[in-house]
Amino acid sequence: MKHFSVFVSSIFLLYCLFRTIPSIEGRKFHSSCKKHHKGYGHSCTSTTGFNILSFGAKANGFSDDSKKLVMAWKAACKVPEGIVQIPLGHKFLIKPITLQGPCTGHVTFQIDGTLLAPSKIGAWSKSNLFQWINFKWVHNLTIQGSGVVDGQGCNWWTPIKSKHISDIKPTALRFYASEDIIVRDITIKNSPQVHLKFDDSRGVKVNNITVSAPGNSPNTDGIHLQNTNDVEIMHSNIGTGDDCVSIQTGCSNVHIHHINCGPGHGISLGGLGKDKSVACVSDILVENSIIESTLYGARIKTWQGGEGVVKNVTFSNIQVVDVNFPIVINQYYCDKSLCQNQTGSIAIKGVKFDKIVGTYSTQPIHLACSDDVPCTDIDLSDIQLKPFRGPLGGSQLQKALCWNSYGISKGPLVPYSINYCLRKGGDDSVNQISESSNELC
Ligand SMILES: *[C@@H]1O[C@H](CO)[C@@H](O)[C@H](O)[C@H]1NC(C)=O
Ligand SMILES: *[C@@H]1O[C@H](CO)[C@@H](O)[C@H](O)[C@H]1NC(C)=O
Ligand SMILES: *[C@@H]1O[C@H](CO)[C@@H](O)[C@H](O)[C@H]1NC(C)=O
Ligand SMILES: *[C@@H]1O[C@H](CO)[C@@H](O)[C@H](O)[C@H]1NC(C)=O
Repeated sequence: MKHFSVFVSSIFLLYCLFRTIPSIEGRKFHSSCKKHHKGYGHSCTSTTGFNILSFGAKANGFSDDSKKLVMAWKAACKVPEGIVQIPLGHKFLIKPITLQGPCTGHVTFQIDGTLLAPSKIGAWSKSNLFQWINFKWVHNLTIQGSGVVDGQGCNWWTPIKSKHISDIKPTALRFYASEDIIVRDITIKNSPQVHLKFDDSRGVKVNNITVSAPGNSPNTDGIHLQNTNDVEIMHSNIGTGDDCVSIQTGCSNVHIHHINCGPGHGISLGGLGKDKSVACVSDILVENSIIESTLYGARIKTWQGGEGVVKNVTFSNIQVVDVNFPIVINQYYCDKSLCQNQTGSIAIKGVKFDKIVGTYSTQPIHLACSDDVPCTDIDLSDIQLKPFRGPLGGSQLQKALCWNSYGISKGPLVPYSINYCLRKGGDDSVNQISESSNELC
């Protein structure tokens, strides 16, 4: 028995020694073998760095370094603790790529330099316009560093001049079917469209990032979530031409806090239920954030005719500054000048706006709930909104609107008219309509 365990130990020792020898492509940072608490023998932990430069990247910002990045990724993906390194002081032109998992263990993507997308639209292949850098089936990844991911998107933003511009515009960083992802510290800017997107994923933490694009760049959402659960987005600055954070169907348990949002369209749920689709969104908490110089603040938007439910949503302690419409539910969402009226609607219930304080520049509250399915259990408490340019500062100022919205309001409420905005309670028939849409989710 003793001989056997010595034998096993030697195998691990050899394995670890072997793993410590630096190869051309990888440089070892740290390697150690520890006694395992419960298992037999030993287990090894080691981090191995894979610098894109050692794979032959040109790093001049105009030669295509995509293949080198994919090679560094594949190498890091094969070891227990791989690190892909994008070093400081270098620029790497990367064409659309997919970085695929699952990997052997945890991967760190250390971005200290700059990743550049092709700036000319013609340089994008037509078959691959959905995203620039696509992480697929990746579990357990950390993206970090002081570097920049630059989508160089401005050619995509101008109104259609050339035939090459399609309706589809690439997302900068996309995660598909991935789990346990951390994105921290980096800057993502000037994406052709969405900057950071999570799709069919779970376990996402976004911390201390900067997302920026001009306020007039179209559809450049900051962070876009779809069919993604267990998300925390915090301590980040997001200013773009569209939603700072956009939460789409299939999302639940999303916690957003300590965000500076603006310019852009605020923090939004939806548009949900387009083309009579089913949408389910629940357990969303947005708190302790500042929204400044945006078109909207806290917003839920649904198309007419959709099915499903939005429930248990809280916006709490949000400071708004010069926001046109700080508090919005719009169940008549339409992205063109005219949409057909449809019957039926996604139900909205259990939405709390608590401590929304600051200045608005058009209308303090706009709750336009469906004619068919009222919003229920809406809670307005401690809303204090003053006109940005003072009470006489704009002839375009509109009074608070609550249409087919049931719930309770608690003071302090400014302007005073908010006290009479919501309909009280909601009788059983109202609640029943709203209950029936729950079954689809
Ligand atoms: C992720 O990686 C860390 C560090 O290697 C590890 O401790 C953890 O168990 C991994 N989690 C999953 C879900 O694989
Ligand atoms: C946030 O990210 C920057 C790099 O962009 C870094 O210098 C800073 O230390 C980070 N802050 C925290 C609290 O991690
Ligand atoms: C509502 O959502 C929050 C997370 O935002 C969660 O903690 C809470 O348990 C949910 N409440 C219900 C009744 O599901
Ligand atoms: C939809 O209904 C509204 C209110 O009933 C009406 O004013 C509007 O013209 C209708 N729109 C269309 C496209 O039919």
